[in-house]
Amino acid sequence: MATKAKEAKKPQPKGKGGESVRILISRARLQRRITEMAREIRKDFPGEPLHLVGVLKGAVFFLTDLGKQIPGEVSFDFIAVASYGLGTHSSGQVRLTRDLDSSIEGKTVIVVEDILDTGMTLQYLLRVFEQRKPKRIRVAVLLDKPERRIAAVHADYVGFTIPNEFVVGFGLDYAERYRNIPDVGVLSLGPDGAKSGKP
Ligand code: IMP
Ligand code: MG
Repeated sequence: MATKAKEAKKPQPKGKGGESVRILISRARLQRRITEMAREIRKDFPGEPLHLVGVLKGAVFFLTDLGKQIPGEVSFDFIAVASYGLGTHSSGQVRLTRDLDSSIEGKTVIVVEDILDTGMTLQYLLRVFEQRKPKRIRVAVLLDKPERRIAAVHADYVGFTIPNEFVVGFGLDYAERYRNIPDVGVLSLGPDGAKSGKP
């Protein structure tokens, strides 16, 4: 099992302008928690077909790992929204950039999101989905940053509650970079970024 000390010694990815990433949640912890979440979800809906709707692109690794751990009938679809532009601050605006392939009418839909931050994205998506008459909708998020919440939304399944820091890895990006890091880490922007060293 990876210890905190071992993780700290690993060479940290260095990006542009002195950016660095400090591991917050190791890949082993992510996998353990995702397996638990999959069990919780299946336990809540035994024997029921589940339709996982992943929010591109951040939720891709979470959805694929979660989906593999849910036994029984599971189907997938994907939707894409734009909300953050290229930086670390939300524009507050959410726009649909890719719709689902198939109807969700009558289905038990699990919305799979990477992170719940202000909640604006999820609020928008839930409005869109509710109009399409699913049997029911549940929300699974890998990460939750409750301190930043603006919209009155909540997730039914939360992987990890994290402090108000900008995180990358395991699908999460900063200007489309760092998604491929297998752990979740806190991004520091370095001298070319925010003066505090925090995004
Ligand atoms: P919300 O609409 O503010 O809840 O933000 C949701 C979206 O913003 C997520 O799906 C992410 O794409 C992005 N986001 C929010 N916080 C972070 C972060 O710490 N790192 C990377 N992306 C983030
Ligand atoms: Mg994003």
